[in-house]
Parts: sequence; C-alpha cells; structure tokens
Amino acid sequence: MFTIITGSQFGDEGKGKIVDLMSKDYDLVVRFQGGNNAGHTVKVGDDVYKLHLIPSGFLLDSRVLIGPGTVVDPGVLLEEVDMLSAGGIDLPPEKMGIDAKTSIIMPYHIELDVLRESKRTEKIGTTGRGIGFAYIDKVARDEVRMADLTSSERLMKRLSELAASKEAAIRDLGGDPGIVMDEGLIEKYVQLGERMAPYITDVSYEVNKALDDGKNVLAEGAQGTHLDVIHGTQKFVTSSCTIAGSACANIGVGPTRVDSVLGIVKAYITRVGEGPMPTELFDDLGKQIQEAGGEIGTTTGRSRRCGWFDLPLLKKAIYLNGYTSIALTKLDVLLDLEPIKVCVAYDLNGKVLDYPPEDTADLAACKPVYQELPGWDDDLTGVQSFDDLPPAAKDYVLYLEDKMGVPVEFISVGPARDQTFRK
Ligand code: IMP
Repeated sequence: MFTIITGSQFGDEGKGKIVDLMSKDYDLVVRFQGGNNAGHTVKVGDDVYKLHLIPSGFLLDSRVLIGPGTVVDPGVLLEEVDMLSAGGIDLPPEKMGIDAKTSIIMPYHIELDVLRESKRTEKIGTTGRGIGFAYIDKVARDEVRMADLTSSERLMKRLSELAASKEAAIRDLGGDPGIVMDEGLIEKYVQLGERMAPYITDVSYEVNKALDDGKNVLAEGAQGTHLDVIHGTQKFVTSSCTIAGSACANIGVGPTRVDSVLGIVKAYITRVGEGPMPTELFDDLGKQIQEAGGEIGTTTGRSRRCGWFDLPLLKKAIYLNGYTSIALTKLDVLLDLEPIKVCVAYDLNGKVLDYPPEDTADLAACKPVYQELPGWDDDLTGVQSFDDLPPAAKDYVLYLEDKMGVPVEFISVGPARDQTFRK
C-alpha cells in the first residue's frame, strides 16, 4: 500500500502527529521534498523533540527515508540524530536512509538566502535556511549532492568548479565571499559526510522494491499546498512542489502505485511569513486562536497568522492533491468562539468566487464571504470518539465534510497520540 500525506493549507497543519500515529502500519516513511524549513514536534512520554528533517515514523518500527527531492543541511540532520540518541532513541543506518542524489545545503546557500531576503523591498519571509538557493543550484545543475560529501577530494573538486560563481553571487549581494572556500567549513562538511556515508541509499529502489514485496509505504510532505512553488500563492511560496503528485516525481515511483492520499486540514487556517490569507483575523479573536493553538513556528519561532477556515482554498487543495480522505486537526482550539465562521466564497471587486483566483494580487484583494455556525464551550481535549463531541462541534465537522466532499477519516483534539480518533 502506498499512501501520500500532504498539508492542505499553508503548512503547520499537524502532519507530523498524524504521520507518527499512522506509521505503525507502514514499513517505510519517506520525506519527499523541502528541507529544514519544515518543523514538527514529536512527543515521546514527557519528552518533546522539535525536528526539521527526520520523518516522524522513527518512533515505531518503520524505516525512515529522506528522498532525493529534498535539500538537506547535514549538520542539522546529524544534530537531530544526536538529540534523539541522547533521549535513548537510536537511529542506526538500518532505521534511516538518505538518497545519494539529495542536494546538500551549503553554508553559502544560507548566506545567499539571508542576503537576498534582506535586499527585497517586498519580503517573502523565508525561513533563512538556504532552501531556495539549494533548489536553484539543483535546477542549475550546480548542486553538491549527498554522495559528493563522502570524500574530501570529491567535495573539493566539486567546490572548485562552483566557487567562482558562488563567490560572485555573494559579493553582488554585499556579503563575504570567503564563506565559499572556508577551510574550516569544508573540513566540517567532510566530517559530516563521513558520518552520513553509511546512511546513503537509493530511495526510489527501496520504495519500489518494498511495494513489490507487499510492504506499506507512507510519503510525508512538508509545508502545505498553497506554498507549492508552481500552484501556490506566488511569489510567497517555498521552492519545492508540496502537492501529492510531487511525492511520485521526487521519490521516483509511478503514480499507478498510489493507493490513497490523506490531506491534513487544520480546523482553522494559519500562515507564517508573508503572502495573502483572505480570512486572516487581525483582532483579538486572531490572538485568541494563536494562543489557544500555540501557533508559533517550530523552525523560526515566528508567530503564525491565524484566520477562519477557508473553503475556496481547501477546494483548490482537493483538486491539486486528489485527497481520498482528510484528517481534521486542532478542533479543540476552536473553544469559546461564538459564532464560528467559515469562508464559503470570496468577493473580488463585487464578483463572488467560490474558487481562488489564479493571480496572487487578486487573491490578496479577495474579501471573505462567511457562513456562521454555532460554537461550543466544552473542552474537547479529552474526547475519544466522534459520538462524544458536543453537538455543535459534530455539526462543524459534518458541515466541513459536506462542503469539502471528501470523507473525514481522523479528528485530532490535542497534541498527544491518544488525542486522535477515527470519525
Ligand atoms: P523558505 O521555504 O524558507 O524559502 O520560505 C518560503 C515561505 O514558506 C515563507 O513564507 C516561509 O515562512 C514558508 N515556509 C517554509 N517552510 C514552512 C513550514 O514548514 N511551515 C510553514 N511555512 C513554511
């Protein structure tokens, strides 16, 4: 069985927790795009781990894989391995693999990302982790690959081919080009490469072979649908394809093998960084949701912008991903809100739209048209089944399910694994 999971909004929908929950039924869990711009929090007993690269499935028996379509900062990856090991969770090469073709985020990518963002008059609000510049180099065929880190001769040869253009790019943006061939940094990357060498694998082969052998594979997306580099709210997007089809292309597995696509949908909407979000709440209600939901970015510590559920954006996410079912997360956060609003359409200069306009500036000009629903004042965090939800919360779920036209499979009412139930 091959299942793909993606975020349906702007990221931070709670994918990590659902992957953690589902991974007991999957032999392989594969991260297919993005890098350490992502972040998820995994709770193990009383310990809380904030992770950016390692997929959530490591807690159970799944083998976790980092696919060739990702961009990886090896220092961050090994810090995560060491942090888990200090907590008694070991990830030897039998439990984790990284593809030889994975693009490496080099220190100069981070420098270029930060310099470029600081020069923009209209900011994107990138996470400053070098993601975009590592992807630029992949497309330009100027990347350093995972396999290039396995010997200092190989890395030096590659860097000497690239150095002049990287130095010029940094100089153009007013930075210090010395970072490109800094001996200390190169030595550090060689050491990181030596540690990672035993983990190198062919992810496409492993996934296809596992499917041939009747095993189960879960592909875990990062960020969210509307941050997709092609279909998202350009230019306020990340640098990779975040939608479900991207799992096949980035892992190297045919679309005919996909069995199901699970969309992770937050019961409201959040966004971190710049870019339009028509239902954004600028008042105390937005703050209330932000506080109740702990809406602070795992990677950058920035506050997430919060707003009401946006059906037009969700309809687009359903088209882009072909969801077969949905996990509705953070339902518990919508406590003591009367009424709860759902955006059912937009008003764009007097025209009513039930699907987002293609142009980002038009989306930014859209005013939400709301349907009001009754709220509830019962704490949902201890609820264990759909039937035990208060009637207004049940109605909210059923209303969204009807409007989305996709069955809700899971409902989550808190951060712990046992605060999730099947509908
Ligand atoms: P980049 O991916 O660092 O280039 O940032 C581009 C945009 O994507 C910015 O608005 C970021 O805040 C946003 N972004 C990147 N990764 C995530 C994520 O994991 N969750 C939410 N937003 C993200």
